[in-house]
Amino acid sequence: MTKIQDQVIWLTGASSGIGEALAYQLAAKGGKLILSARREAQLQEVAQKCRRQGVTEIQILPIDLTQSEILRSKAEQAVKFYGKVDIVIHGSGITQRGTAAQTFLGVEREIMEVNFFGAIALTKFILPQWQQKQSGHVVVISSIVGKFGAAQRSAYAASKHALHGYFDSLRAEVGQDNIKVTIICPGYVNTPISLNALTPTGTKFNKMNINQVNGISAEVCAMKIIKAIEKNQQEVYIGKMEVLGVYLKRFFPRLFAQIVPKFVPN
Ligand SMILES: NC(=O)c1ccc[n+]([C@@H]2O[C@H](COP(=O)([O-])OP(=O)(O)OC[C@H]3O[C@@H](n4cnc5c(N)ncnc54)[C@H](OP(=O)(O)O)[C@@H]3O)[C@@H](O)[C@H]2O)c1
Repeated sequence: MTKIQDQVIWLTGASSGIGEALAYQLAAKGGKLILSARREAQLQEVAQKCRRQGVTEIQILPIDLTQSEILRSKAEQAVKFYGKVDIVIHGSGITQRGTAAQTFLGVEREIMEVNFFGAIALTKFILPQWQQKQSGHVVVISSIVGKFGAAQRSAYAASKHALHGYFDSLRAEVGQDNIKVTIICPGYVNTPISLNALTPTGTKFNKMNINQVNGISAEVCAMKIIKAIEKNQQEVYIGKMEVLGVYLKRFFPRLFAQIVPKFVPN
């Protein structure tokens, strides 16, 4: 069991949605938090709400994951707050609305920068410290779309699949150093993610997706993520019926390939 109490936890994506819900619950469990995302004002608000719960150990570290040249110094700053980082949770992410044929390459690169390269860069810069202290835990928020593809999500699905390849390999390399890797695959969670989704030209989609509206709450998702961290689970699927798609793809791939195009995303 991993205890959250007194662990130094660096959480990206903390300004909204699942990351924000995680911040409140991790704070309530006694975690020492470093909150990251781009919007400083939102991070300050989340930190203030945590402080109102009586939490004092909370820091904010604004970060833009597309700015690869600043990520090493951000990781160094994160370590300086409490002298170490015990757990990194990669919660930042952006999705898309657009077909592969329409979507500009620059938009696909942006999705990969935030969802994949940002996460691996921060991990890489924290890793030597973990190897030295022979402990650490990286938690990656992937998606069920990290286990199969779906229409209008080609770059998003690619970025999430890439996380699985990278972090499964990392687990094989650093397990002997007592460094743990947990990959979380949510289905539909009621957050503003679709408002911020990128269209083929890179503008914001700005519409709420009905599947997300009918999905589980960010609070329930956060609670299940924390359980998975505490139990040191390697990979978990969180959601409603949609998570069955993972098993359908695994055990009945031909049937799954027939069904997926009939699913009309919005
Ligand atoms: N909601 C779902 O149904 C669902 C399902 C499966 C997986 N997920 C995954 O869960 C994670 C959280 O998503 P969410 O649903 O909570 O969406 P959200 O409310 O839109 O949160 C996304 C977070 O990512 C941050 N972010 C976006 N671009 C960034 C950048 N360039 N640099 C740093 N941070 C950035 C945002 O903060 P700023 O705008 O302040 O930077 C925000 O805190 C994502 O990885 C997403 O792919 C969500």
